[in-house]
Amino acid sequence: MDFKTQVAGAGGLAALGADALLVLILGETVPAGLDRPLADLLAAAVKDGDFELKAGKTLYAHRVAGVKALRVAFAASGDGSVKALRKAMVAGLGLFKGGGSRQLAVAVAGGGVLGAAHGEALAGAVGEALYFYRQTKPSAPPASKLRAVSLVCSKAEAAAVAEGLERGEAIAEGTNLARECANRPGNHCTPTYLAEQARKLGKDHDLKVEVLDRKDCEKLGMGSFLSVAQGSDEPPRFIVARWQGAGKSDAPVVLVGKGITFDTGGISIKPAAGMDEMKFDMGGAASVLGTLHAVARLKAKVNLIGIIPTCENMPSGRAIKPGDVVTSMSGQTIEILNTDAEGRLILCDALTYAERFKPAVVVDIATLTGACVVALGHHRTGLFSADDALAGELLAAGEQGLDPAWRLPLDEEYGEELKSNFADMANVGSRDGGAILAAMFLKRFAAKLRWAHLDIAGTAWNSGKAKGATGRPVPLLTHFVLSRAQ
Ligand code: BES
Ligand code: MN
Ligand code: ZN
Repeated sequence: MDFKTQVAGAGGLAALGADALLVLILGETVPAGLDRPLADLLAAAVKDGDFELKAGKTLYAHRVAGVKALRVAFAASGDGSVKALRKAMVAGLGLFKGGGSRQLAVAVAGGGVLGAAHGEALAGAVGEALYFYRQTKPSAPPASKLRAVSLVCSKAEAAAVAEGLERGEAIAEGTNLARECANRPGNHCTPTYLAEQARKLGKDHDLKVEVLDRKDCEKLGMGSFLSVAQGSDEPPRFIVARWQGAGKSDAPVVLVGKGITFDTGGISIKPAAGMDEMKFDMGGAASVLGTLHAVARLKAKVNLIGIIPTCENMPSGRAIKPGDVVTSMSGQTIEILNTDAEGRLILCDALTYAERFKPAVVVDIATLTGACVVALGHHRTGLFSADDALAGELLAAGEQGLDPAWRLPLDEEYGEELKSNFADMANVGSRDGGAILAAMFLKRFAAKLRWAHLDIAGTAWNSGKAKGATGRPVPLLTHFVLSRAQ
């Protein structure tokens, strides 16, 4: 997509050169400054009872007299917050994506100064509205004809808006890369496939990519990760991808993504209903790839390392059994009381591996617990960290990226349930506070790190009719990494 800023000439929006025009209306009245033919149309539609200036409502008109653009749409944007604006953009874009429009101009009427956040929101909305999963669906509708999208602004606003458009485009591409990866079914998106994707990303963006196989992981003593992998015929992979945007001696940000390409639960098998959605259990891994794409695309002056332990969690004659004890790379032993709590088993070895990079901070991202969905629903990602400053940075990045998180506690008392008579710890306790307990488990492997954990079980995908990956938390992570750049 070609994103631009566009300054309206003397003729205003009505004379704008574009084949489609989307006007976002702030507030609940027809904005005073809006050009005559557009304002008249809007006022008439409201008066006739066919349109309401309520957030989310849209109105489409074709070949409006006095307007140069063939197609015109209005989208009511409520209070004018960037969040409301972005929602209205997505709704408005929905009216154009299937039609004949190639260039779309987007204007905001009735508001204040436009800046980077608005540009970023528009590019993000375009990425969201135009993405469609096609890989295994030949009958999917054809791709949108839209090729260019501009945000109408003043000369004074143009520089900031352009910067936002560029950042937004990189984030949107990263988000859609994550969505595409996660949407692919488990028989396509295997650990081998994820490693290929990482290698491809490396070629495209000059990343150093290393892929460890089962033997390499054995040598490193990753007994916990390999215990999950052992039940599957799909070979496991341990992916390390590095973006070097800053000096060699600059401590890197490390992102660790859970890459379970399918989670059956293993011997502690899951119920059949809805199990297909466990193909999304590599959403954390996908978000690490997406963030690497966005950060490298923007050539951010920061060192970023993505680590992805990836395998399937399957029941088989070779699978781990409840009661089995394994030795993690850290040397700590783990009694596996439930083979369905596998995410923490692959992440703990990746956290230990991360130590070798002497990272500035480590953030792991995982579709880790159903309990997190119970606690926070599908709007906010669960955030855990013993480090207040780091937690604050991540929360702020989530707000900036319109990809919000919410912090949950990590008091030591919660961890008492992980006691085992047969190992240094068990991999599960009771059901109560399950998201916190999972984070407490990981905390035991992060003692030497400045660490935070994001539980994206509720935010990585949508269920129901709109079933599909969201690409979250790529916007949060990208903002976080950019905020740490020089
Ligand atoms: N991948 C699941 C978590 C999950 C479940 C995410 C449902 C989204 C929706 C994870 O591996 C898992 O199975 N967790 C268990 C942990 C339990 C056994 C302590 C869970 O949440 O039930
Ligand atoms: Mn599981
Ligand atoms: Zn899982």
